[in-house]
Amino acid sequence: MTEFGDRVFPSRHPLVKHKLTLLRSVSTEPKKFRELIREISILLAYEATQDLALEEVSVTTPLGVAKGGHLKEKIGLVPILRAGLGMVDGIWEMMPGAEVWHIGLYRDHKTLQPVQYYNKLPVSPTVQVCLVLDPMLATGGSAVATVDILKRWGAERIKFVGIIAAPEGLRALTQAHPDVDIHIAAIDDHLTPRPTQPGDPPEGYIVPGLGDAGDRQFGTG
Ligand code: PRP
Ligand code: URA
Repeated sequence: MTEFGDRVFPSRHPLVKHKLTLLRSVSTEPKKFRELIREISILLAYEATQDLALEEVSVTTPLGVAKGGHLKEKIGLVPILRAGLGMVDGIWEMMPGAEVWHIGLYRDHKTLQPVQYYNKLPVSPTVQVCLVLDPMLATGGSAVATVDILKRWGAERIKFVGIIAAPEGLRALTQAHPDVDIHIAAIDDHLTPRPTQPGDPPEGYIVPGLGDAGDRQFGTG
């Protein structure tokens, strides 16, 4: 149990910690950065899906019949554009039956409020479990807005899978949506404050974090 409640699950897996350390490094180039995002996302999704329901089935092997299970619920992967995109492919390979629904949000640089620019959800829900994918949970505004959208849509179960979270974002998301499980690789220290002099970093970045996850994946910025 963390100070943010029993729905927040920071990974303890050594592979996650190892890969996250490489991901954070200022010298990691976009190609390697994308590979690491993909790999960490698979490991986090493995942890986030431990409680998925199974339907009991039997399967005929060359030597007999074995008891087994098939996933009962339909899963939706919901990447928050842009940075969440890099988390999709690896997870999708693990669960190829999942549907992928994109939500486009960017943070207004002055207000840090999320601005929606894309939503192609169908009229009514087609999945039972949604995994919201975004590497960075900073103020939490983007994650809260996405969960708001999914709940209005009628999503039944929602989990957030991210890579680095700030305490501010965890507080915002757990307070707004206490029913959402949050799986992350690390909880960092704080967010950068409003700049007061030239050379200060922009406001609202996670410290120590990894910088701008979208820019580092896509080679922009
Ligand atoms: C980043 C990140 C999150 C958001 C987190 O996206 O990928 O979506 O900021 O910040 P918050 O918790 O304070 O809302 P950004 O707005 O930079 O857009 P991008 O992914 O297109 O680069
Ligand atoms: N978005 C990012 O990409 N990085 C941060 O540190 C905060 C928001």
